Amino acid sequence: MTAVRTALVLAGGRGTRLLPLTARTPKPMLPFCGASLVAGMVRRLVPHGVDHVVLAVGADAAPFAPLAAELAGDGVSVEVATEPEPLDTAGGARLALRGRDRPVLVLNGDVLTDLDVGALLARHAAEEADVTLALTRVEDTSAFGVCLLDGVRITGFVEKPAPGTLPGHDTVNAGTYVLGPGVLDGFPDGPLSFERTVFPGLLAAGRRIVGHVATGVWSDLGTPERLLDGQRTVLSGAVAWPPLADVPATADGVRVAAGARVDPDAVLRGPVLVGPGAVVAAGAVVGPDVVLARGVEVESGARVEDAAVGPGSRIGADAVVRRALLGSDVTVGPGAVVADLAVLADGERFGA
Ligand code: GTP
Repeated sequence: MTAVRTALVLAGGRGTRLLPLTARTPKPMLPFCGASLVAGMVRRLVPHGVDHVVLAVGADAAPFAPLAAELAGDGVSVEVATEPEPLDTAGGARLALRGRDRPVLVLNGDVLTDLDVGALLARHAAEEADVTLALTRVEDTSAFGVCLLDGVRITGFVEKPAPGTLPGHDTVNAGTYVLGPGVLDGFPDGPLSFERTVFPGLLAAGRRIVGHVATGVWSDLGTPERLLDGQRTVLSGAVAWPPLADVPATADGVRVAAGARVDPDAVLRGPVLVGPGAVVAAGAVVGPDVVLARGVEVESGARVEDAAVGPGSRIGADAVVRRALLGSDVTVGPGAVVADLAVLADGERFGA
């Protein structure tokens, strides 16, 4: 069995559904439960032998520069492969993986899952597959790519079938796959899609594509609502998330990182993560379901609940932040209310 040591993360999307959060920070680099989203995803792979990550990004590599430091402690090296123009998922992967002759694990850069990666890799090896796809079951398949199965073999793909048109087929592509070497050779140059062209093309050519059905958590974090839902899932402990586990929790699920300062007269309601260097003043109430990133300041009497607050942001006295996403260095003025899935962009000043 050839061990899989490289993970390729597709990170070249525009993240339009998360705008304005993604205006300056690409979706995979958004802070999520104690690290960038992609750092948390990759750290889950380390116990399975992954020690190198290739990011297939758009034209600009700069926003991904901090990832190498985030992963250095886990012994993972980072390579950022840029695309001069958007090449779609498989086009980006092909460019980034040129010249490699070993199997790689490919991940969408915005999926939260508790998938057993070891079982996926073992299935790929045992089945001597060309490609092995992680599959998940959904009730309504109409927004997904359905994979038709015969035992473990995938025999067909149907993109976004209308409700009720494929009774009995509820396994969809979960955005994680193992690619054998050379499977992207022979497709035409230019933009290329895994779902629309590569997988159906490989099937038509008689290649062996295997499905690995996983039950459990699987969630696309591509919208504000889903990102907050995903944060709640991680804080609840339903998905092992190494960056969160770095900070010990009390029995109430309160995690305060080293270097944070929480006034004895502040209230923390778990589950909550207070990041390094964050400051919570007297009379503030933070939680449940809150992540304060590095250096956030919550002033006296402010309330923060069901929210992700980006690094360096400041929440003024008596302000309310509830069910909201705040980017980096956001200022919420004293007494202001940010709620109902509000999204504040990096550097935004609200009610200040
Ligand atoms: P939306 O604009 O909100 O739909 O987000 P997105 O652009 O990220 O699109 P989507 O969620 O469909 O993308 C799924 C995954 O593929 C994400 O991890 C994207 O970063 C990635 N992706 C999408 N298009 C490209 C591309 O042209 N090149 C590369 N390298 N990755 C891509």
